[in-house]
Amino acid sequence: TYVVIDNCIACKYTDCVEVCPVDCFYEGENMLVIHPDECIDCGVCEPECPADAIRPDTEPDMDAWVSFNRKYSEMWPVITVRRDPLPDAEARDGEKDKREKYFS
Ligand code: SF4
Ligand code: F3S
Repeated sequence: TYVVIDNCIACKYTDCVEVCPVDCFYEGENMLVIHPDECIDCGVCEPECPADAIRPDTEPDMDAWVSFNRKYSEMWPVITVRRDPLPDAEARDGEKDKREKYFS
């Protein structure tokens, strides 16, 4: 599976949702997640993210992000249409400790 990681937080560009063939992105207040059981591992979303916030779970130390993506994808609504990024998306891109600072 692919998962969304912390640099999506406070950016939420949403380019990713337009390309997913199985509509497995779910939307929280300030980030998206991927449902790991619905993702078919096609990889087309990864290069679409301007914040480089989508990764394959084959990278090291991704287990916690897989659990995080699964948990919130079961709580949040599906998103299939792109919308405007969050207002401070450019300023927040690449900032450290985004989960502690902004996740809600
Ligand atoms: Fe959707 Fe493919 Fe990205 Fe999985 S890898 S979330 S199926 S676009
Ligand atoms: Fe987030 Fe990147 Fe999608 S910032 S909303 S994972 S395009």
